[in-house]
Amino acid sequence: MGSGVLAPLLILSIQILHTLAQTDSNDSAALNAIKSSWNNLPPNWKGADPCGSGWDGITCNGSRVTSIMLGGMLLTGSGLGDITMLTELQTLDLSNNIGLKGTIPSSIGNLKKLSTLILVGCSFSGPIPDSIGSLSRLVYISLNSNSFSGPIPPSIGNLSNLSWLDLSENNLNGTLPVSFQDSPGLDMLLNAKHFHLSKNQLSGVIPAELFSPNMKLIHLILDNNQFTGRIPNSLGSVRTLEAIRLDWNSITGSVPSNFNNLTNINELYLSNNDLSGPVPNLTGMNALDYLDMSNNSFDPSAFPPWLSSIQSLTTLMLENTTLQGQIPVNFFSLPQLQTVALSNNKLNGTLNIGNSYSNSLALNLQNNSITDFQQKAGYSIELMLSGNPICQGNGAAQRYCRPRTNNTLIQPTNNCASISCSANKILSPNCGCSHPYIGTLHFFSYSFSDLQNTTYYRTLAGSLISALKANGVPVDSVNVSNPSIDVYSYLQFRVQIFPSGQDPFNRTAISTIGFLLNRQTFQLQYFGPLFFLEESYCCYAGEKNSSHTGAIAGGSVGGAVLFMLILAGGFYAYSRKRARREEMKNNPFASWNPDQGHGGVPQLKGARWLTFEELRKCANNFSESNCIGCGGYGKVYKGVLPSGQVVAIKRAQQGSMQGALEFKTEIELLSRIHHKNVVNLVGFCYDQGEQMLVYEYISNGTLRESLLGKSGMQLDWMRRLGIALDAARGLTYLHELASPPIIHRDVKSNNILLDDHFNAKVADFGLSKLLSDEDKGYVSTQVKGTLGYMDPEYYMTQQLTDKSDVYSFGVVMLELMTARAPIERGRHIVRVVQDAVNNPKEAFLSHEILDPQIAAGGKLGGLEKFLDLAMRCVQESGADRPTMGEVVREIENIMQLASLKENPEADVTTFISKDSTDMSDQHSYGSKDFDYSIGSLPFNTEHHQKNR
Ligand SMILES: *[C@@H]1O[C@H](CO)[C@@H](O)[C@H](O)[C@H]1NC(C)=O
Ligand SMILES: *[C@@H]1O[C@H](CO)[C@@H](O)[C@H](O)[C@H]1NC(C)=O
Ligand SMILES: *[C@@H]1O[C@H](CO)[C@@H](O)[C@H](O)[C@H]1NC(C)=O
Ligand SMILES: *[C@@H]1O[C@H](CO)[C@@H](O)[C@H](O)[C@H]1NC(C)=O
Ligand SMILES: *[C@@H]1O[C@H](CO)[C@@H](O)[C@H](O)[C@H]1NC(C)=O
Repeated sequence: MGSGVLAPLLILSIQILHTLAQTDSNDSAALNAIKSSWNNLPPNWKGADPCGSGWDGITCNGSRVTSIMLGGMLLTGSGLGDITMLTELQTLDLSNNIGLKGTIPSSIGNLKKLSTLILVGCSFSGPIPDSIGSLSRLVYISLNSNSFSGPIPPSIGNLSNLSWLDLSENNLNGTLPVSFQDSPGLDMLLNAKHFHLSKNQLSGVIPAELFSPNMKLIHLILDNNQFTGRIPNSLGSVRTLEAIRLDWNSITGSVPSNFNNLTNINELYLSNNDLSGPVPNLTGMNALDYLDMSNNSFDPSAFPPWLSSIQSLTTLMLENTTLQGQIPVNFFSLPQLQTVALSNNKLNGTLNIGNSYSNSLALNLQNNSITDFQQKAGYSIELMLSGNPICQGNGAAQRYCRPRTNNTLIQPTNNCASISCSANKILSPNCGCSHPYIGTLHFFSYSFSDLQNTTYYRTLAGSLISALKANGVPVDSVNVSNPSIDVYSYLQFRVQIFPSGQDPFNRTAISTIGFLLNRQTFQLQYFGPLFFLEESYCCYAGEKNSSHTGAIAGGSVGGAVLFMLILAGGFYAYSRKRARREEMKNNPFASWNPDQGHGGVPQLKGARWLTFEELRKCANNFSESNCIGCGGYGKVYKGVLPSGQVVAIKRAQQGSMQGALEFKTEIELLSRIHHKNVVNLVGFCYDQGEQMLVYEYISNGTLRESLLGKSGMQLDWMRRLGIALDAARGLTYLHELASPPIIHRDVKSNNILLDDHFNAKVADFGLSKLLSDEDKGYVSTQVKGTLGYMDPEYYMTQQLTDKSDVYSFGVVMLELMTARAPIERGRHIVRVVQDAVNNPKEAFLSHEILDPQIAAGGKLGGLEKFLDLAMRCVQESGADRPTMGEVVREIENIMQLASLKENPEADVTTFISKDSTDMSDQHSYGSKDFDYSIGSLPFNTEHHQKNR
């Protein structure tokens, strides 16, 4: 009888359980099995009801799990586990979990509803199972950057809905499968827009059957494989194509003539193959912006005339392709040109770039047979002619004859002075401190090559912000920086995505960001398809960190033991703290672990911590041959960092070192200084009893050397004006815009450095001087400065003001006009010039004491005004001198006047108009609190957008 009552009760309670638990029991069991086989799953994966209790990364429809998005969760584990039991699953994104390895089971074929599969940046290996071809709803497959091996399964050809197939950066081998009788192949993918199969070991010919006119392919990315044979004619029939990459293979034969029918192509990479026959005529590709056909075996031919009609061309790479004869002058008038690389050809005659070329052009003609250059006297492009007859003998010192130097790109900076973020936080472009999600965007193709052009950064950051916001990610700002193009022509940008509202991001935001970037549903102007690889994220909002949970687990230990532990722990903590305080005094950087994070020390903006060992290596054991400045107080060495960046290392000698805290203060200050006319601090070393400052290396030495004719650089009048303007801008930045303001104290022509393009940068400034240099006149008492440049008012009163720098700058201006040292034969340059001006002024202007170099050059527009300005700078009383900001504006005016008189094509004209807008930009921000980085790239994208 009793059992008769119990039975209905049992049934009732089972029913209640069922209605409470939303999740299908099989799905729940599958997820719980995953939970027990993988590590680091989100902490809210608890209980038996993933859908009802909102497990992070899981989305359900009713009781069924439809989406798993666990990108960037630091998961570790092997294989896909029981995920393949989730038969209603539509989206699976496990990208950027480098700890996920093992093979993909063929049971993946159970996921019949799957439309999106993203496993970018994990460590999966083994073959891609054939059963993937039965997932007929698949639209998007990205298995990029794993270790998959074996062939591309022909069954993928059955995926008639597939739009995106990315298998790049794996170890796949074998041929490209095409359909044959009953066997499917990639040619059947008529809805596919993207084939990304680069960086594998695929081989054989590219099958002609693969392509047909009814395909919708827009990106065909097959570079860096082992393909052989000819480019099939059929490829020319896929009229939708916008980017083709066949570079770095072993493709032979000539380019099919019907390639010319591909009128939508923007980017074409055929370089590093063994193509032969004539250089193809691609007149029809009139939307082409990036063309690379270098390192092939084309027939010797003239520079292809049709190139001069491709108005959209930004980048032309035809290195080592036996081009001969002259480059037609009209080619250089293409308005968008940025990079033209034609090294290692047989181009000859006189180079003529005409007078309507794009100013951002970098032209590499190294190792050709060019004998002369028409625009020698005034041109404003980056030009490399070393290895040509023109650079033999007399002309060898010309700037275009120097071998290529790598452009060093300025590190990201923020326009927020005097904010320093606490450990692990990073300053955002909007001047907040938070934990950004950091990673690298890798682009398969892109329409430009000028990495200094800020438009691309702004556009990219802006598009990312809108895409993220549109998808509900609480994003404050996005910083894109450190662009580089690697040897395989892949463009990379470092990206930092800063959270808004909550900090750090929660897990949902992190996985959504990863999904959006690797699923790439948004369009980017200038940029082709991409993939995103993250650096691991520090932490997720709303979660206690793991050490904390460890302490709670310890709570179950017996009372007495616990007490002992607390005592011991307390004592340990106390002694540790004392040791830390002691350590802090000896080494204020002790708590900054250089190995942690991303190579930078968080408190320093842009500057890096370098070890003694690193610097010793890069400066060739501090050998004499690397010493570029050896004074009594320390030495300056030239070195090359592993990144290839050339640096100047200032090494303090024993006895001239600062206290540890002063040194720390100094580098914190210096690291905040970012201006194109101020030498940039790259890093520092505080290690093994050494103090070193590492600066960017400026290629052409000091202004003093150039004035003495030691550097081989011709300083004509316009260039001198440009140098004065640059240096004045650098000083204005230090006086008016740096925070706290900095008085240089030692402005002189030996502290103004020149680069290859005659840009001037102010060097050697700081609160306290780490080193002196070789100048004998250095006064090392209370008053700091160099004899001849020193403000007499400061010398008398010991009251330092920014007008002291103005005085010294006035002396430099006089040097620029006369090329005389400030003190010659016991007479001070200010007196010499004053006398010359007073009786009569015309004597000076009639060139008597002018530097013969410029006096011979004829027109010296603005000379009189420049002289007046210099004389006002060297007034006895600081109050009578202009400020550096005023000096900048006057030199700008003088240059405008002078350039009107001069040949309007002179270098400097463009220089002014370009840069004076920079300056006005700068003033429109109008606050001293910004740490400007004018010459650098505008990483504060948000800020720029607001100002436009
Ligand atoms: C592909 O690589 C595997 C080893 O991973 C090898 O056994 C196989 O022979 C290769 N196939 C081709 C076609 O090269
Ligand atoms: C494509 O190019 C070939 C060879 O240049 C030409 O004969 C053919 O007419 C072109 N096809 C179309 C559709 O324009
Ligand atoms: C290139 O092809 C176009 C048409 O396809 C033709 O008009 C032009 O003459 C060709 N140029 C050369 C140099 O062969
Ligand atoms: C020039 O191109 C050929 C292929 O045509 C290649 O083998 C060779 O390495 C290239 N030379 C240079 C210096 O790049
Ligand atoms: C340049 O090279 C071409 C082809 O090799 C030759 O015909 C021509 O005479 C050369 N011109 C000069 C100025 O050397």
